[in-house]
Amino acid sequence: MPGSGSHSTSSVHVLQYLAMFTVGILVSSDKGSRGERLDESGQVIRKNLARLPAEVVRHEVVPDDEDAIAAVLIDWADNQRLDLIITSGGTGLSPRDVTPEATLRVLDRLAPGFAEAMRRESFKKTPHAMLSRAVAGTRGRTLIINMPGSPAACQECLDVLLPALPHGLEILKGEASDCARTPDK
Ligand code: MTE
Repeated sequence: MPGSGSHSTSSVHVLQYLAMFTVGILVSSDKGSRGERLDESGQVIRKNLARLPAEVVRHEVVPDDEDAIAAVLIDWADNQRLDLIITSGGTGLSPRDVTPEATLRVLDRLAPGFAEAMRRESFKKTPHAMLSRAVAGTRGRTLIINMPGSPAACQECLDVLLPALPHGLEILKGEASDCARTPDK
């Protein structure tokens, strides 16, 4: 539950959340799935999640295949009941970039603010930010967020999202409802 009072830094904000969130990291990469590329973006995501009260309980690399990605998302949301799934890769314009299609196929509701914020802030660093077709939304009580595949992009996107994630996840889990009392509102 969030504590009371207002604070100016997101790190303090994050520390006030006591709930532990379960997280899955799903990397879409043909080369990564064949062991021909190190999973650097997955490691960046894992390291950053240590800033939250979050436990990474699933971490996989799959090929850029819509059915394979969708199957993992459904399993992690419906069977593992993870609170958060972050995908990395496959959001661009290549014909093999199908992560948004797989994600849209399984979402119940869109949550456009996450991708809007990532693209808006990333665009300040590189015009290539507009090339990402990342989407986000919920399936049941699981929040699913796409991120680009480069480790630097993941770092930049997580810097944008992390301050808002704990409150969003608590609302989704039904553990917080009073936004007016949330710090850093
Ligand atoms: N976002 C941030 N923050 N930083 C980046 O360097 N790279 C872009 C974009 N988003 C980038 C970024 C590039 S070059 C591409 S092609 C798209 O993400 C899609 O990347 P993906 O196909 O690996 O998902």
